[in-house]
Amino acid sequence: MNKDKLIETVARLVSPPKGILAIDESLSTCNKRFEKLGVPTTEEKRREYRELLITAPEMEKYISGYILFDETIRQSAKDGKSFTSILQAKGIDIGIKVDQGLIDFSSHPGEKITQGLEGLSSRLKEYKNMGATFAKWRVVYSIGENTPSGDCMKENAVILVKYALICQELDIVPIIEPEVLIDGDHTIEKCYEITAGNFDVLFSELRDSNVFISGIVLKTSMVLSGKDAEDKSSSAEKVAQMTLRCLKEHVPEHIGGIVFLSGGQGDEEAAMNLNTMHQMGSLPWPLSFSYGRAIQNPAFQSWAKSPADISGAQALLLAAAKNNSQASIGQYKK
Ligand code: 13P
Repeated sequence: MNKDKLIETVARLVSPPKGILAIDESLSTCNKRFEKLGVPTTEEKRREYRELLITAPEMEKYISGYILFDETIRQSAKDGKSFTSILQAKGIDIGIKVDQGLIDFSSHPGEKITQGLEGLSSRLKEYKNMGATFAKWRVVYSIGENTPSGDCMKENAVILVKYALICQELDIVPIIEPEVLIDGDHTIEKCYEITAGNFDVLFSELRDSNVFISGIVLKTSMVLSGKDAEDKSSSAEKVAQMTLRCLKEHVPEHIGGIVFLSGGQGDEEAAMNLNTMHQMGSLPWPLSFSYGRAIQNPAFQSWAKSPADISGAQALLLAAAKNNSQASIGQYKK
């Protein structure tokens, strides 16, 4: 493990005013989004859409890294240039989603653990040869009456440790992504309790296993009330306050960086919440975004409707990236 190299990669990923763009939707998630807007669910259509995202001019001003899916890291633009070479020419780091999705957690109805450790080291070596400098692994918790359980958090944390150690051994920065889903009618306080409890379990496992904490990036959901909650009145101030308190009290100060997923928040809401956090004073760690939908949404909708208007969709993508870049330094204005 080359710690200096890991630290350098982390520093590039979270250097203000930049954040990460996630375009690593799995085949099934990508196809579901395509189906909703009547886009054919073919490999060529997915390639065409990702080409739009990867070739959008000036994205490197606001985006430090793109997270790709296995299919995408192997694809090329229409003119034959590989997607990886296009990103490298812009100075954008290449990330790769390496988990292989969710499976049921035995004897724990409704709970999921994330799979993908088998063959991970050799897959990562291949991705590294293709230019990848960082990876992503997502675990998911949904808030219910008795979930998530401590057992589920512990099991996922043990798996995340193995993933992180394999990445760091190959000098690849692991993004560790525990997502507490927005689905449900839970209060913001309940979300705080679950998010904080999970951080405690996660970081205790990471520390005990000698994962190099300054060489990881935490990708987390914000502390939010459920999307069907009765009291949906959480202001950006409340979300920002509770999220920062949770991070300050439960995440080690020497972590490489922290980025947020958007997780079904509105585009404006995701930018505003991040912006508000940055207006609350200096923070112990770099804090930015790693949004998928909150940056892609306007461009995706435009392209689905008018596939020939590539530059129109790319302008929308750039505008969303710029908004969130400004939010990542507390300078976003509606
Ligand atoms: P969203 O921002 O759309 O939640 O996606 C981010 C991500 O990478 C989820 O794994």
